[in-house]
Amino acid sequence: MTQTTAQQTRSGRRVRPLRVDDLTVRFGGLVALDHVSFTVEPGSIHALIGPNGAGKSTCFNAISGVYRIAEGRITLGEIDLTKTRAHRLAGLGIGRAFQSLSLSPTSTVFDNVMLGRHSLTAGGFLSYGLRAPWTSRSARRHGERVTEICEFLGITRYLRTPAGALPYGDQKRVDIARALAVEPTLLMLDEPAAGMSAGETADMARLIQDVRDELGVSVLLVEHDMGLVMGIADRVTVLDFGRLIADDVPAAVQSSPAVIHAYLGNEDSAGDAGGEPGREAG
Ligand SMILES: Nc1ncnc2c1ncn2[C@@H]1O[C@H](COP(=O)(O)OP(=O)(O)OP(=O)(O)O)[C@@H](O)[C@H]1O
Ligand SMILES: [Mg+2]
Repeated sequence: MTQTTAQQTRSGRRVRPLRVDDLTVRFGGLVALDHVSFTVEPGSIHALIGPNGAGKSTCFNAISGVYRIAEGRITLGEIDLTKTRAHRLAGLGIGRAFQSLSLSPTSTVFDNVMLGRHSLTAGGFLSYGLRAPWTSRSARRHGERVTEICEFLGITRYLRTPAGALPYGDQKRVDIARALAVEPTLLMLDEPAAGMSAGETADMARLIQDVRDELGVSVLLVEHDMGLVMGIADRVTVLDFGRLIADDVPAAVQSSPAVIHAYLGNEDSAGDAGGEPGREAG
């Protein structure tokens, strides 16, 4: 029997390990992920890195039930995510922010984050719209929680502003706020620092650490900025052409010949790698 951990989030949910086991995803003849295995330990910041096209987003999409898995198994504690549809993930405790922003630009920040709360109700947003099961009291409670989450993210001054009017870095925060609004035990972030200045990236690094330390949420992070990754990750999984080439603590990954070769060999496509391994974030 596996040992269970008593670790909980601030919102009182048990934090379970995410296990990716022998995962293979194919697109026609292309093997985007080739028998990849790794575990995100409860309460850890786990980075998934690799050059462009390595399979990071494919891995995210497989975990979140968006892409069909050819082989392998993904579990969150005892729950088999392999058989779980994407729209049920939030209820299971997985919050996801996206590589390209998926906010409703004309809706207010409050309403965008509130969308995350709707997924907590049994039937999701659709049933909310059709049957309005929330009482005004529960709606108020959800609204208070949305405001608290926005305070945590430092975006309360924008609550009534259309999300599309915000600076890019703040829109990223709204996207993360929406993912946190499902009260996740695992937060999945796909390139949260992409397109950010050095100062914004340092703020993002602190925010991700706060999510783990203050909310008790595990974080699975895809990110090209090596300074950010090596500065905050407890463990780093490295993909290259769909294969796992390293899975270790940051210091070991940085000195791995296979990793160095993958990055140097892909120097042109790695583009905005954002700094050499080892640079401190912040
Ligand atoms: N829906 C899809 N249909 C066909 N091929 C896809 C699809 N999604 C991804 N791929 C291919 O799978 C491979 C891995 O892509 P993926 O987007 O996962 O890479 P990535 O590591 O996220 O790269 P990046 O750093 O550029 O975001 C690439 O060759 C890509 O072209
Ligand atoms: Mg990607």
